[in-house]
This record gives sequence, C-alpha cells and structure tokens, in this order.
Amino acid sequence: MNEIATILIEQINRAGPIRISDYMEICLMHPKCGYYSKKDPFGTKGDFVTSPEISQVFGELLGLCLAQNWLDQGTPSFALVEAGPGRGTLMADILRATKSIPGFHQSMTIHLIEKSQTLIRIQGEQLSKYNVEWHETVESLPQKPVFFIANEFFDALPIRQFRKDNLGWREILIGIEKNKLSYFLGNKIPLHTIAHRIKDTEIGDIVEICEAAKPIMEELSKRIKMFGGCAIIIDYGSNNLVGNTFQAVKNHKKIDPLKHPGDCDLTAHVNFNDLSNYATNVVVSKTTTQGLLLRKLGISERFERLETDLPKIQKLKLRSDKTRLIHSSQMGDLFKAIALVPSKVALPIGFDI
Ligand SMILES: C[S@@+](CC[C@H](N)C(=O)[O-])C[C@H]1O[C@@H](n2cnc3c(N)ncnc32)[C@H](O)[C@@H]1O
Repeated sequence: MNEIATILIEQINRAGPIRISDYMEICLMHPKCGYYSKKDPFGTKGDFVTSPEISQVFGELLGLCLAQNWLDQGTPSFALVEAGPGRGTLMADILRATKSIPGFHQSMTIHLIEKSQTLIRIQGEQLSKYNVEWHETVESLPQKPVFFIANEFFDALPIRQFRKDNLGWREILIGIEKNKLSYFLGNKIPLHTIAHRIKDTEIGDIVEICEAAKPIMEELSKRIKMFGGCAIIIDYGSNNLVGNTFQAVKNHKKIDPLKHPGDCDLTAHVNFNDLSNYATNVVVSKTTTQGLLLRKLGISERFERLETDLPKIQKLKLRSDKTRLIHSSQMGDLFKAIALVPSKVALPIGFDI
C-alpha cells in the first residue's frame, strides 16, 4: 500500500466515507505524495499528453489570439496569466509567438497559477528567460487587465457526484469495503440542493459539481469587468453534462480511479455551462470545439508553413500532430473552449456569441 492509500484509509476509518472531491484533492495535490507533487506526468513517457505537448502550434495560435484581443482593447499594461501550466510549454510557446508583436512583451507581467512545487520548478526551468510570478489562486493576481489562458486546468479540479432518486439526491462517497476503497451512497439530500439540475435530469442520473471552479470564475470575471482583458478556457467536457465522467489515467490508459491513488491522474469532464454561469457581468462566448477554434485561428496554414522543405517523414509526423489536435475522432470535438471579455469588447478571434 502506498503513502496516499495509507492516509486515505486512516482518514476514512477515523471519520467515515469521504467525498470524491476530498479524494481528488488528496490524491492529486497532497504536498508530499500527491500525484502532481511527486512527478512530471506529461509526455509519451508520462501518463498523458496535452495539446501544447503535441505541437508548438497550439500555443502559437492561442498566443496570437490573445495578442490580437490585447490590440483590440487598446494595448494596456496587463498580466499574462496561465492557470495549471504543467511543464510551462504552452506559456513558452505563447511568449515565443508574441515576441514580435510591438509592445506586447513590454506591457506584460507573467503570472502562473500552480500549486505543485515540483511543477513550479519545471516551469521555472522552462521559462528561465522571463520574470515569472507564481500564485496559488487568482485572488493574488495584480489589479490590472488580465489576459488569461487555461488548458486542462479545470478538469483537474475536484468534483462531487450526486445520484438523483425520486425524493432527492444522494452523494456518491468513497469508503472502505473488505479493506479496499469502494463507492458508497450517502444520505438523501433534498432535491433543491442542486436545483439547477432538476429539469435536465431523470431518476438514476448522476450529476457532477465542481465547487472549486466557482470562485475562480467569479474572481476572473470580476477582474475582467473591472480592469479589462480576456480569458480563454480549453478543456474536455461539454454543456450540461449528465453521467459519471470521473476518470483515472496511467501510462496513457484509463484505469479504475480507486485502484492507484496518488499514482494516476484523476479528472472529470468540465461542465462549460456551469463555468459560463459562474462568470457574471462579462460577455461569455458560445462553447466551441477545439477543432473549430484552431481551424478558425489558421492551424492549416501554420502547419503548411512548418512543413515547407521538411523531409517526408517529418511532414507525416506534423500531419499526424495536426490531426490529433483537430480531428473529430481525436481531440477536435471532445475538447471545448469558451472566452470571456468585458461587455462592449469584441470576443477573441475564433469565438462567437
Ligand atoms: C493536466 S495538467 C495541465 C497542464 C498544462 N496546462 C498543459 O496543457 O499541458 C493540470 C495542471 O493544473 C495544476 N493544478 C491542478 N489543480 C490545481 C489547483 N487547485 N490550483 C493550481 N493548480 C492546479 C496541476 O499542477 C497542473 O499543472
């Protein structure tokens, strides 16, 4: 049994079954033995590969998209912010792509929101040419326009799950049965506790709620309204999710989320409808797909340029990277995106109302 399993079992034996959100928080973010505190999980040798790790083009296009919106907003001094930057690859690509935009780098300070000390060290190495400030939350960002990006950040935030029955909801908890972590149903909770999901669900349905996303979206939208700026959020999920999306990935394979606590990535699909509703007093775009967004930002033209003069084998590799990012059977449809801007400001290119 590993350290995290010992911690979980001791806690459950002492205080009873725990919420899935507590399980995720401990497994992913325990300061000593949590998944993100122990190792670098990215890349082909790790457990999963994210879009910026597939191709530099992802960060380049999104960087230019943010920069265009900064131009549209009158080139203010601003905070360039990434939440959950992993290895720092996306930010490095954004910074390289925007280097030649007059005034962009001179007007910015760079801020990363990250809790894992191991990843902060890796991000520091990746971005060693730049002055970077780290934050635990959005609250401590400077009081100025914020140009914000998050890719696969919200899916790592802890969720709670509820099953609907005819009189109420019952929370799905994690306890111990026969010395193993196991799911339990908690006591009945009145239906009105998740009022916004009564109408679009049926008896037996599971709904998920990401409480940690709410204060982040509220603070972000408050800042965008007050100071200006823009946020682009990309993740896997959809609007109005129903069903169990809690999942674990290890060595690029899905596994039972209760099997290897602390040694596998734990995520849940992001409910973009909830994210949009948490963002108040700003304009929130329609949810779009990653495939459509990257096409509108010019992914094909950029890959064509990169391919020029390359040997055939490298061309084929680039084409397969592009397909992975935008094809509907790969990341193109599963991954969605929304953007936030102050009212009366144009949405970033690629997003619609
Ligand atoms: C799946 S990784 C995404 C990495 C990166 N954005 C990419 O696309 O390659 C999730 C990131 O979010 C960070 N993270 C997860 N929960 C967090 C929290 N509550 N506060 C700050 N960072 C968090 C992790 O440490 C990690 O950097």
